[in-house]
Amino acid sequence: MSRGAGSGAGDAMLSLVDIRRSYVTGPVATEILRGVRLEVNRGDLLSITGPSGCGKSTLMNIIGLLDRPSAGVLRIKGQETGAMDDRELSALRNRSIGFVFQSYHLLPRFSAWENVALPLVYRGMTGASVRRRALEMLDKVGMAERAGHRPGELSGGQSQRVAIARALAGGPDILLADEPTGALDTETGGGIMGLIAGLNATERLTAVIITHDREIARQCARRVRMRDGTLNEAPARGGGSGR
Ligand SMILES: Nc1ncnc2c1ncn2[C@@H]1O[C@H](COP(=O)(O)OP(=O)(O)OP(=O)(O)O)[C@@H](O)[C@H]1O
Ligand SMILES: [Mg+2]
Repeated sequence: MSRGAGSGAGDAMLSLVDIRRSYVTGPVATEILRGVRLEVNRGDLLSITGPSGCGKSTLMNIIGLLDRPSAGVLRIKGQETGAMDDRELSALRNRSIGFVFQSYHLLPRFSAWENVALPLVYRGMTGASVRRRALEMLDKVGMAERAGHRPGELSGGQSQRVAIARALAGGPDILLADEPTGALDTETGGGIMGLIAGLNATERLTAVIITHDREIARQCARRVRMRDGTLNEAPARGGGSGR
């Protein structure tokens, strides 16, 4: 599968230029992201690996427009996000991004299907099609039978699968998944990865997946490692013409 000629500007989904993020605790500022550069084109399937605490979730939250960088430029589908206000960021996020949180973030008072349905409602979908779509997505992650359960009645892995259904339900351009198989056994995790890879192949879903799982990373055509607050990409597989 082609992954573009690198400069496929028309198909640029994400562009990060010298992204920095510092956390200030008392008098001490710690720079976690130290100049991250990354270009992701439509249809890319990309994994990010790296040791615990290196800043992967920090980066994902910035790409997902949930946090702002201390410095640097982030473009999503060609749109510069730095000058956008919170409403514009929310609108862009709702329209374009499906986000799977490392800790799921399901709303406890809503059932599984209602959690999946919420982003559809935010997008303006109404009527019976909302429930139908939510149930269809729950079925794809093997959770149809638990559709009426609340998060407190689900296991960690079941909650994770509901979170994945929610992220995919709206048919996002970009899936950002932070350890989407972290709570799953190998077989269930493989099924979820198969679902994501399938959407990548058939619908050109762009996906960025943080993972500790080598098997999951291996299935991604692009593999990036985070170290010392920056990213290093492994040479593209197959071609062997690594730059
Ligand atoms: N709100 C915060 N305030 C201060 N420091 C923070 C904050 N959030 C994260 N950090 C620090 O930033 C660093 C990176 O955290 P992050 O959650 O991005 O790591 P990670 O690579 O996702 O780790 P893991 O693989 O364990 O999920 C850690 O040292 C963490 O302590
Ligand atoms: Mg993390």
